[in-house]
Amino acid sequence: MDERKRIFSAMRPTGKLHYGHMAGALFNWVKLQNEYNCFWGIADWHAMMSDYADTSRIKDNCYEILLDWLAVGVDPEKSAIFVQSHVKQHAEIHLALSMITPLGWLQRCPTYKEQILNLQNKDLSTYAFLGYPTLMAGDILLYRSWAVPVGEDQSAHLELTREIVRRFNGFYGEVFPEPETLLTPAAKMPGLDGRKMSKSYGNSLDIAEDMDTVWNKLRTMVTDPARERRTDKGTPEKCPVWDIHKFFNKNAEEMAELHEGCLTAGCGCVDCKKKLMAHVAEMMDPIQKRRAELAKNRDDLTQILEEGAKRARVVAEATMEKVYTAMKMLH
Ligand code: TRP
Repeated sequence: MDERKRIFSAMRPTGKLHYGHMAGALFNWVKLQNEYNCFWGIADWHAMMSDYADTSRIKDNCYEILLDWLAVGVDPEKSAIFVQSHVKQHAEIHLALSMITPLGWLQRCPTYKEQILNLQNKDLSTYAFLGYPTLMAGDILLYRSWAVPVGEDQSAHLELTREIVRRFNGFYGEVFPEPETLLTPAAKMPGLDGRKMSKSYGNSLDIAEDMDTVWNKLRTMVTDPARERRTDKGTPEKCPVWDIHKFFNKNAEEMAELHEGCLTAGCGCVDCKKKLMAHVAEMMDPIQKRRAELAKNRDDLTQILEEGAKRARVVAEATMEKVYTAMKMLH
């Protein structure tokens, strides 16, 4: 039995991941898996909650997201990587927790109110969607996780999870630890238009993209608007390309030169982008190639998910045993 502290996190299989996901969440996961007993879920039931009317992409997206994870170094030897619905206890614990989750908590959840307003093209007034945070609490508690690495956007859900823990433990005794939020370091990775990189803005660089595609996008990426002509001086701090440099470019000397070159118009934006592209390629080309290689063999991927689910089930079964005992059920 692995004695290290357990960590759980998940992503919904809604499509290919981009550089922002990689720089924020995934690099953090890659580090965490060396220190903790990590469980990484592909939250297909969560995707189902908003995409129930058209479920045609979810299956393929499970593979896409798995490929992105593996390509950047999430390691099935170190972590349990699995699909949420393959571990049936996720559904079971969701039912158990829904007994004690007050409706008001869910109705007041800020992400619920937001999503209902923002996703007007989808009818999210379903029983399941209201319970999204309860399913998520179940994901975390099924592994009696001590901590959950997530972005700021998920902190309301983590708070709700802790409230559910207190209520459950209050009724039935100390079964669950209150999980900590391990806030993912916010990576400043702007998209091609200078806004936050996001799939929904259509401004992203995807992990799966080959370097020619990446260069074609970078080439036309916005820079400091003050540099309309080659001879115009600029300010790196006002340039989204500079933020991307800061992530990929580890060469301090070159960074200093580019900084100076921007301030004095000694260096043009295209040259600056070419330099950036070399560093992007150095990190991303092997990742992209590895991904393409892994994508060739679906059976291996299926195998990884089966192994992961097996490992997850061991912990999940033990937890459900505790839950049924605590709830005094005949089982
Ligand atoms: N709700 C998360 C998101 O949209 C995904 C998720 C599902 C999750 N279950 C989880 C994250 C449990 C952390 C822990 O990003």
